[in-house]
Amino acid sequence: MKDDFPEKGRDIDELIEKIKIAEDKDMSFSSGKIFGSMCTEPLDIAKKVYSRFIESNLGNPGLYPGTEKLEKEVHEAIAYLINAGTTEALSVGGGTEGNIIALWRAREKSGKRKVLLPKSSHFSFEKACSLLDMRPEYISLTDKYTMDLGELKKKIDDETAVVIAIAGTTEHGVVDPIKKVAELTEDVHFHVDAAFGGFVIPFLNELGHDLPAFDFEIDGVDSLVIDPHKMGMSPVPLGLFYSRTENEITIDSPYLTGRHQKDIRGTRVSASIPAFWITLNYLGKQGYKNMVSQCMQRTYYLIDRMEEEGFSSTVTPSMNIASFEHRNPERIVREMEEKGFNLSRTVIPRGLRFVVMPHVSMESIDEMVKHLGDLK
Ligand SMILES: Cc1ncc(COP(=O)(O)O)c(C=O)c1O
Repeated sequence: MKDDFPEKGRDIDELIEKIKIAEDKDMSFSSGKIFGSMCTEPLDIAKKVYSRFIESNLGNPGLYPGTEKLEKEVHEAIAYLINAGTTEALSVGGGTEGNIIALWRAREKSGKRKVLLPKSSHFSFEKACSLLDMRPEYISLTDKYTMDLGELKKKIDDETAVVIAIAGTTEHGVVDPIKKVAELTEDVHFHVDAAFGGFVIPFLNELGHDLPAFDFEIDGVDSLVIDPHKMGMSPVPLGLFYSRTENEITIDSPYLTGRHQKDIRGTRVSASIPAFWITLNYLGKQGYKNMVSQCMQRTYYLIDRMEEEGFSSTVTPSMNIASFEHRNPERIVREMEEKGFNLSRTVIPRGLRFVVMPHVSMESIDEMVKHLGDLK
């Protein structure tokens, strides 16, 4: 509307007041009422660092050699975490961009368009297929909600460009049998979506859990995405895409300081890179281990509290995601929203879903369950 872009600048106090009204409408992680997001509140130090790099744009890297150096160190640190050795790394906007790049590369490399992926896959793959004119074929799930290997084996053929497996599914946080999938994909690109689980599995295993291998430790894994802006505690947006081999898809960027680009965005917000750099160096592995351990304890607590209220858990949780079957999750999500809580739902099977991120405390679980108990 005309008034939305004023002819002359307005009074600053009036404007700040409007910004405050908008800000107050938004939910915040610190309220403890967000149970449906895979992101969380960054550390205070990360917020401060973020604001210092607000101009930084690694789409034009020659202007920001300092940020670029920190990016390199972040790539190397996470390569170490996921056994990536000397593979190629790209900073991306998140799991969606990483998954699109994986399919793009697989299509260019193979000249084929068939994508085999479990029904538990994140919807970003549907986007990727639509953008890239590729053809998704979904593989059924076992009773543990992981990809059915028998069906995958039957569907891999000469037309297949890429096979996808998930390390930490969006709905239930389960891990596909990645090692076994790799045995079936010798001639096909194999991409692992570890957007959520990549920052959980290594720490859980160090804490004595027994989650399966999911990363470049497995020979057949060709590419992988992992998101610092989920369980890595980074401010958004930050995902990392890793590829076992350097890829030929490079687009010249002649008028910029970099010679070429390999990702999708041109100009890219880069403040999250120094912010994540300081987070990972400040917390160290021990800090992440403590955080993951706390999230798991709270996940078990949430499940106990929900079971006391008569809900039954869909799967034994592998990580900090709990899900409960329900006939009408849409109603519960809507009614809880009216009470100020953000919950989410699962599709297979229909139910409620809770992501127990670091901002979810025991008290916030008690408060949420108290309200939920009235709605059943
Ligand atoms: C397994 C998985 N992959 C990819 C994504 C997409 O990540 P983003 O929203 O950061 O693009 C998500 C988001 O929840 C996810 O759970």
